[in-house]
Amino acid sequence: MRKNLLFVFVALFFTGALAQTKPSMDLIPVPAKIKTNSGQFTINSNTRIVLSSNTPEMQNAVAVLNGLLRSAAGFRLEITETPATSNAIVCKLNASVSNKEGYRLSVQKELITLEAQTPQGIFYGMQTLRQLLPFQIERSYLSNVLWRIPCVEIEDAPRFAYRGLMLDVARHFHSKEFVMKFIDMLAYHKMNRFHWHLTDDQGWRIEIKKYPNLTETGAYRNRTLEGRYTVPEKRKWNNTRYGGYYTQEDIKEVLAYAQKRFVTVVPEIEMPGHAVAALTAYPQLSCTGGPFEVEGLWGVFNDIYCPKEETFQFLENVLSEVADLFPSQYIHIGGDEAPKLRWKNCAHCQALIKKEGLKDEHELQSYFIKRIEKFVKSKGKRIIGWDEILEGGLAPNATVMSWRGESGGIDAAKQNHDVIMTPNTYVYLDYFQANPKTEPLSIGGYLPLWKVYSYNPMPASLNQDEAKHILGIQGNIWTEYITTTSHVEYMAFPRGAAIAETGWSPNEKKNYADFKERMIRQFKRYDGVGWNYCKAILTEEE
Ligand code: ACM
Ligand code: ZN
Repeated sequence: MRKNLLFVFVALFFTGALAQTKPSMDLIPVPAKIKTNSGQFTINSNTRIVLSSNTPEMQNAVAVLNGLLRSAAGFRLEITETPATSNAIVCKLNASVSNKEGYRLSVQKELITLEAQTPQGIFYGMQTLRQLLPFQIERSYLSNVLWRIPCVEIEDAPRFAYRGLMLDVARHFHSKEFVMKFIDMLAYHKMNRFHWHLTDDQGWRIEIKKYPNLTETGAYRNRTLEGRYTVPEKRKWNNTRYGGYYTQEDIKEVLAYAQKRFVTVVPEIEMPGHAVAALTAYPQLSCTGGPFEVEGLWGVFNDIYCPKEETFQFLENVLSEVADLFPSQYIHIGGDEAPKLRWKNCAHCQALIKKEGLKDEHELQSYFIKRIEKFVKSKGKRIIGWDEILEGGLAPNATVMSWRGESGGIDAAKQNHDVIMTPNTYVYLDYFQANPKTEPLSIGGYLPLWKVYSYNPMPASLNQDEAKHILGIQGNIWTEYITTTSHVEYMAFPRGAAIAETGWSPNEKKNYADFKERMIRQFKRYDGVGWNYCKAILTEEE
């Protein structure tokens, strides 16, 4: 009896000790397959990075981690093509890795081997190594840290090809430096799309060489609503002139930065609605002729582009510059929230409806988008539109972003169109994420972390062929009430990490309790990056 008890104590002691030495796995998104082994690899100043091919893309794939090592550990790893069997991180392109973004990572005591079909896969493997390193890797001072990586075998690949966040820089403008920091955070979480909402009623934010007035006039507003949106008599205004825009040189800098992190930037130029800033600069493109003022109020406005030849010429010129600037296959052309009041009362619009044999103003919007789609196609690109572009008939090759819930996405997939799920019922990151009484002012809604995490972008009602059209998931950050960068960060994470895991990890690997634990451990890393975030889960009830 005594002997048995002793045995139990000894066994308990050892399992306890083992639990303590088990490496803490913070990985977000959680990998498809992971096996942990005993032991660890230690990076030191003699560790080398061996590249199977020393191309610029492969150098990009390893540059982020190497840069972090330089600032956190004080050394940068030598990059070489000379094979190594110890103290090296060997990165090899290998066509047998089936997914273009996937990777295989083997961390052994003597050697790390990372294989992928593409440099992008190598980049994601490096992001995994980054998260396997002690959290001090995100800090920028020398310290006495042992740069140890637990021995693991990982096979990993994304569930969806499109994994992104949108940032609205029209309602509140954010600098190119912040946009780069935002892109860093996307890449950290293995997201690959940054949707840049560049134009809206409250500001036009991209330099267009042919139309300088778009930014001279359209990038600035004379007043901004203060506080909550209320009835007109109760509105308060901040009368400080507000605005800003990116020059094409700024945009090129951001694009180069994003490219090095394997993030595709999808620009959005809104039409036919959300166009008051453009119409303020060029009122002749409206139905009434104006005059207009760049909006300081939030919402949906009646003045939209009038579908005249002059307007199409203007939009084609704008889109030509945008297409030349952005390498993205996609250009987002908006399409949401375009009231038809002006078109109903416009002689030109009504004559066009008759001439083209259209049924109503919805079909006129469809005519508008189809014309634009044809032009964008002639530039070798494709359009994405918000789900209103379904109304009156979809343009032939349009991809749909489903924002008013999932029904638009389901409809589009059933019509054999590609879809990105971004429903306001799950992934609108401008909504409250905790008790509104103690949170900063927000546009409304309530999407706590668990709710965002619970989302599955694959609707059960689609058959196998239709399901192939669901390209992925995106969270949206509209900035009516988000004026500072630290507030953007606060709204974006940790909910953006939940979206990243939904986009990347196999659905059967998702588990909120486990995610929450990993997330809380990740906070130290966000602190290191200098990234603000919402801490509501620290006090969340189970
Ligand atoms: C949207 O939220 N209006 C796309
Ligand atoms: Zn008109």
